[in-house]
Amino acid sequence: MIRKKLIAGNWKMNKTSADAASLAHELVVSVGAQPDVEVVICPPFTALESVAGAIDGSLIKLGAQNMHFEASGAFTGEVSAPMLRALFATHVILGHSERRTLFAETDELVNKKVLAALKNQLRPILCVGESLAERESASTLRVIQSQAERALEGVGKDQAPSVVVAYEPVWAIGTGKVATAEQAQEVHGFIRGLLTKLYGEAAAQRVRILYGGSMKPANAAELLSQKDIDGGLIGGASLEARSFVELIKAAAAAT
Ligand code: PGA
Repeated sequence: MIRKKLIAGNWKMNKTSADAASLAHELVVSVGAQPDVEVVICPPFTALESVAGAIDGSLIKLGAQNMHFEASGAFTGEVSAPMLRALFATHVILGHSERRTLFAETDELVNKKVLAALKNQLRPILCVGESLAERESASTLRVIQSQAERALEGVGKDQAPSVVVAYEPVWAIGTGKVATAEQAQEVHGFIRGLLTKLYGEAAAQRVRILYGGSMKPANAAELLSQKDIDGGLIGGASLEARSFVELIKAAAAAT
């Protein structure tokens, strides 16, 4: 298998530093040594350090949920890639739909962040996804193509395999409405085709494409068995050890 499945937990604006460390510790005890699945947890900035301590020595990796594209400077309230690296983060979620819709992030800004992440040896988890109105007007693939192409502008063929793409239909995030396996596979296959056009077959085959949007233990097996679904970006179900561990097990069973 060329692509190891990846399960990433997006904890969003939840958990204090202490609560986050205790969840991370529970995960280490349950799945810290699972070699078949790559596991990344993305706590809020304020918990990165305590979580880094809790997962130290395990196979679980650390991700942030956002970052600024500059390395330092007068950007009140922002955090940079070198700062994340210094806390042992290896991944960063970029272009999440909540950042796009609630914080007005544009494709151009997401692109700058993707390039800055790669320059600093952080793996971007680049989120793309259509709204309900876009799906209903049959614009899904056009929207995905435009978001992906713009976010990846200037990313070279050698860098492409370091990028993780997360397909997150906006209408499925936190709503309990999950995309069917067929709906998701259609978009994942389309993204793989796009990556093949941009970077060639060999590089495109190495890129992990995650599904995100109400992924739960009950629906994970079917989604994860699809040819181009290489894992999940999990919100709600990542906030509790039990459900997150079940998702990791489902990913291991699907490999
Ligand atoms: P959800 O969130 O699993 O709660 O739908 C996914 C995400 O926003 O990354």
